Amino acid sequence: MAQDTSFDVALKRSNAIWEDLDVHPVTGDRPTGRLHLGHYFGTLKGRVDLQNMGVNTNVLIADYQVITDRDTTENIQDNVINMVADYLAVGIDPEKTMIFTHSAVPAANQLMLPFLSLVSEAELQRNPTVKAEMEASGHTLTGLLLTYPVHQACDILFCKGNIVPVGKDQLPHIELTRTIARRFNERFGKVFEEPNGLLSDAHLLPGLDGRKMSKSYGNAIAISMTAEETAKRIKKSQTDSERFITFDPENRPGVSALLTTASVCTGRPEIEIAEEIGNGGSGQLKKYVTESVNEYFAPIRQKRMELMADTDYLADVLNEGNKKANAIAQNTLDDVMDAMGMNYKF
Ligand code: TRP
Repeated sequence: MAQDTSFDVALKRSNAIWEDLDVHPVTGDRPTGRLHLGHYFGTLKGRVDLQNMGVNTNVLIADYQVITDRDTTENIQDNVINMVADYLAVGIDPEKTMIFTHSAVPAANQLMLPFLSLVSEAELQRNPTVKAEMEASGHTLTGLLLTYPVHQACDILFCKGNIVPVGKDQLPHIELTRTIARRFNERFGKVFEEPNGLLSDAHLLPGLDGRKMSKSYGNAIAISMTAEETAKRIKKSQTDSERFITFDPENRPGVSALLTTASVCTGRPEIEIAEEIGNGGSGQLKKYVTESVNEYFAPIRQKRMELMADTDYLADVLNEGNKKANAIAQNTLDDVMDAMGMNYKF
């Protein structure tokens, strides 16, 4: 078809532009549970958009980061395979995007040793995100929690990532990654580029109670939930005693979070939805939110169910990604060892 041909040409040109721009994003998620709507609207959707514009993104399932602030790896294998299912269900295409886990890429982990030599204890101690995570965990500061930002630098630098799409809590880690890249280059010769954080401007979707969406607060809707589970969770969410629906995040966090949830799913502004419901009260609002979420996620959830019925395929996807990541990591490690004069030819 003529139209297809011209589209193909345009797509090729578009992809060539991205190649010229030399954009290599890296992102990651900790496999501590199921991904939820906050992840979806905050980052996953953007990754899929980038991918479909022809940008090759690397997506890391950051399994070693699970033990930074918790003392169990319970369900980790299940979480990893479910994370692959979430990724593919939302549209991440393993042909275009490399999906891999920390634990399967030894050469990337080995970068940790030279990188640790490039940072001071004081620099590690003053990372505000690490401090906040330590306080939230209620645990003492472990060596891994203190140094995981260095490990995150390994994630980013082994695959020569130059763009890191993240929320602002991750900026200290990007800063440290830049410092490590710069110091390595100064000390041993140029191997790395200094990456940049790409702040997502997607407005953060709050949890159903208006606080940050988090599984531990019980205020999250997981991508993997059924329509019934979604309805139940929304039904149980806390609103307030005022009947007339208005959008006022400060004074009406519950009602406003519901409006925002419906808004991101329907593309309609919160105020418009609020006006439409008006005197219908929270019952009608919840009904609308439930329908909006369930309608948006129906095809994604359908695909997810099909994927989970074939976990061998999901394992294959991960094995392929890990294989690719290993080849890239080995290359980078070779460059590092060359630069350090440690690629001994005995
Ligand atoms: N620390 C990130 C988070 O908690 C996850 C992560 C691990 C990551 N490695 C990364 C993000 C590399 C970007 C790049 O969200």
